[in-house]
Amino acid sequence: MIPEGGWALGPLLLLLPALLQCAGRRRAIVNRSVPDVCATCHTHATCHQIEGKSVCICNYGFVGNGRTHCQDKDECQIGANKICGNHTLCHNTHGSFYCVCLDGYRASNNNKTFIPNDGTNCTDIDECEESGLCGQNARCVNTEGSYKCYCNDGYKLENGEHSFHPDGNIVSCKEIGCGSPPEVKHGYIVGNYSLLAGSAVHYECEEGFYSNEGKFSYCTANETWEPATLSCKGVDCGVPPSVLNAHPASVSGTTYGSEVTYNCVHGYFIASGNQSAVCNARGQWDGTDLVCKEIDCGKPLLIPHTEMIWDNSTTLWSRVYYQCKEGYYFNGDRNFSECTMDQSWENITYICKEEELFSNLSIFNETCVKWQRKTGRLGMRVTYTFHILGQRWDEKTFSEDAIFNITTSEDNPKVCLDLNSGSNYVVNITTISSTNITVSVTVAVQTKVKEAFNNVLIFNDTCLKWRRNFRGTGVEDRYSFHVQGHRWYQKEFFHEMTFNLTTHKQAPEVCFDLQPGTNYSINISMVALNFSLLVTMTTQITDPPFPDVEFVSVKGSAPLLRLRKAEDRNGPISLYQVIVLPLGLQSTFICDSFAAATFFSNTADAKGYVAAEFRAMDVADNMSIALGDRHYYGKFYNAPLNLGEEYCVFFESNK
Ligand SMILES: *[C@@H]1O[C@H](CO)[C@@H](O)[C@H](O)[C@H]1NC(C)=O
Ligand SMILES: *[C@@H]1O[C@H](CO)[C@@H](O)[C@H](O)[C@H]1NC(C)=O
Ligand SMILES: *[C@@H]1O[C@H](CO)[C@@H](O)[C@H](O)[C@H]1NC(C)=O
Ligand SMILES: *[C@@H]1O[C@H](CO)[C@@H](O)[C@H](O)[C@H]1NC(C)=O
Ligand SMILES: *[C@@H]1O[C@H](CO)[C@@H](O)[C@H](O)[C@H]1NC(C)=O
Ligand SMILES: *[C@@H]1O[C@H](CO)[C@@H](O)[C@H](O)[C@H]1NC(C)=O
Ligand SMILES: *[C@@H]1O[C@H](CO)[C@@H](O)[C@H](O)[C@H]1NC(C)=O
Ligand SMILES: *[C@@H]1O[C@H](CO)[C@@H](O)[C@H](O)[C@H]1NC(C)=O
Ligand SMILES: *[C@@H]1O[C@H](CO)[C@@H](O)[C@H](O)[C@H]1NC(C)=O
Ligand SMILES: *[C@@H]1O[C@H](CO)[C@@H](O)[C@H](O)[C@H]1NC(C)=O
Ligand SMILES: *[C@@H]1O[C@H](CO)[C@@H](O)[C@H](O)[C@H]1NC(C)=O
Ligand SMILES: *[C@@H]1O[C@H](CO)[C@@H](O)[C@H](O)[C@H]1NC(C)=O
Repeated sequence: MIPEGGWALGPLLLLLPALLQCAGRRRAIVNRSVPDVCATCHTHATCHQIEGKSVCICNYGFVGNGRTHCQDKDECQIGANKICGNHTLCHNTHGSFYCVCLDGYRASNNNKTFIPNDGTNCTDIDECEESGLCGQNARCVNTEGSYKCYCNDGYKLENGEHSFHPDGNIVSCKEIGCGSPPEVKHGYIVGNYSLLAGSAVHYECEEGFYSNEGKFSYCTANETWEPATLSCKGVDCGVPPSVLNAHPASVSGTTYGSEVTYNCVHGYFIASGNQSAVCNARGQWDGTDLVCKEIDCGKPLLIPHTEMIWDNSTTLWSRVYYQCKEGYYFNGDRNFSECTMDQSWENITYICKEEELFSNLSIFNETCVKWQRKTGRLGMRVTYTFHILGQRWDEKTFSEDAIFNITTSEDNPKVCLDLNSGSNYVVNITTISSTNITVSVTVAVQTKVKEAFNNVLIFNDTCLKWRRNFRGTGVEDRYSFHVQGHRWYQKEFFHEMTFNLTTHKQAPEVCFDLQPGTNYSINISMVALNFSLLVTMTTQITDPPFPDVEFVSVKGSAPLLRLRKAEDRNGPISLYQVIVLPLGLQSTFICDSFAAATFFSNTADAKGYVAAEFRAMDVADNMSIALGDRHYYGKFYNAPLNLGEEYCVFFESNK
């Protein structure tokens, strides 16, 4: 782009070094140097955009090139008919002008001045149309391009004239006579009045106000009203009157229309009348007709089965207490009723139920009885008589008969009875009601056989003792015993016994005739109760009884040992041994050390030996053994004895 105008070249060349560096921005720089046309407009010109170009045009009322000069033009000189139109005067101002209508004309925009370019023109003023020009109470009359004001009938000007030319000064037509009478605060005019001199107006105060004087005002000769002297004061009803048995709850004031509200005093109720009174225009409280009467609830309600405790008072919050009659108990929420604000006794649920001395009677834990007592009498001690009749299952009559008393204040008594097992009982519980009536209840109790006897003890090996579970001393129990004995070492051994025992002892004892070394099982049963118990006991193995031994000492031949059979109690477990011991060793003899010493195992230091061994049960009557007969007895060799030597022979029994 080639820059416009030479003035721009110089700076462009001068700035070249810098511009070369930023050639890309050259176009922008040139554009910025175009002068702003709008900035050159004259103060009385405005910048306009015409066909994309900025042009300065002089403002309205000015003429010139818009840049260097805009001069005021005298609009009033424009045109043959002048600019303001017919019946006008034109006034030029700096940069503008205005028009004013000639006398007798007015501008169609109702303004004193106007500018005609909005179509405003000056027109003839018609009669009446413009009475506003004449003020109130006058009318305007048009007379050939001019107009005049005339006061309405009954009105005149201050100077007495009846017409005038409106000239901007405030002139007004006034009524002939005194005109409007003065106003009185809170007062008003009563009836008609005339404005003519000598006439009077009658004032009265508004409702709620009063005045005792100055109720009239006169129209004087110089046509002014005497100042009104009436002064209306607000009425005051004063302190509200007192109402019997009532007190004012709220008072809004004491002036006309104020209200007071009364409440009946405590314990009184509104019998009639209004609770509120109003201050009336006459300064009196209206409607103080409240009647308060004392609350009276009358006789209290009767409740069945109760007795009333009442002090005869029927006023507010009086109380009446109720009490259940004898034989009844209280089952309600409250035991008293109060006289309430609504003049009636409170409705309470007071229920008296007939006493129940044995309610919900039940048996628990086999021998315990419990029941509920509903009497409503707290902590009252009651005696219950228990009559217990008991009968064993195998008996036909009551063998037990006990009577005892229990005294308790419990409402839920529990009594556990000391009853024998395996019996049927009839328990009769009797008590006396609060009305002295005997009340009894009967309950059947059955006890199971838990233990027909207990604390079974074995003593002295072969004896048993126990405690009978039955407490009555007069009653006998019969026990059957079945005793069976076995031996582990003697299969064929069997010992059996049966016998019966009848006893009334509390702690019976029985001793059995038992064999030693035997395991016994003893079945004890009580047939009546279908109860049995198994006891096992083991008897000690005792030394077998010694057989009769006869020793025949024979010189030269084998000495003879004669035996006679002893009772066999231990069976095969008992052995006899014949021990041969050289005489010199007898002092150190210990039986057990020989038990297994055979003749052949005999050593030098222990020269004794077992010569024979045989079972106690094998010993026959008049059995004899010759010592040294060279036979085997058991596993032992009966060796021949040495001639000339002295021996000591032992006969030993082993269990
Ligand atoms: C002014 O009055 C003349 C004569 O009465 C009349 O011819 C003319 O139209 C009037 N001009 C306007 C603008 O009313
Ligand atoms: C009346 O004149 C005043 C002052 O000249 C002007 O502001 C007003 O707009 C005019 N009223 C009308 C209706 O033209
Ligand atoms: C004068 O102005 C009024 C109101 O704008 C218009 O009604 C009337 O025609 C005008 N009179 C003339 C003679 O232009
Ligand atoms: C009218 O008369 C009263 C007394 O009657 C007088 O006080 C008052 O000044 C008079 N007013 C005029 C305007 O003369
Ligand atoms: C209530 O009144 C009755 C009779 O009216 C009287 O016999 C009784 O004594 C009075 N009871 C009390 C508590 O004053
Ligand atoms: C009292 O209460 C019972 C049961 O709630 C009702 O039947 C009875 O009408 C009540 N009586 C009064 C006087 O309110
Ligand atoms: C029943 O008796 C047993 C033992 O005498 C006792 O532990 C248990 O608490 C009892 N049960 C009741 C409900 O009394
Ligand atoms: C139980 O009490 C009654 C009185 O309540 C009395 O007559 C009776 O003798 C008493 N019986 C026993 C066994 O204490
Ligand atoms: C329970 O005892 C009372 C008083 O001793 C008696 O009247 C009543 O008949 C007895 N009831 C039974 C079932 O034994
Ligand atoms: C019940 O008897 C006792 C003495 O036996 C007596 O004090 C009491 O007043 C009697 N009660 C009734 C309600 O008859
Ligand atoms: C039990 O044995 C001891 C001694 O052995 C004896 O004094 C006691 O009398 C025996 N008891 C019975 C009940 O036989
Ligand atoms: C034991 O009593 C039962 C009946 O209970 C009887 O059958 C039995 O023969 C009696 N036994 C003896 C040994 O007396």
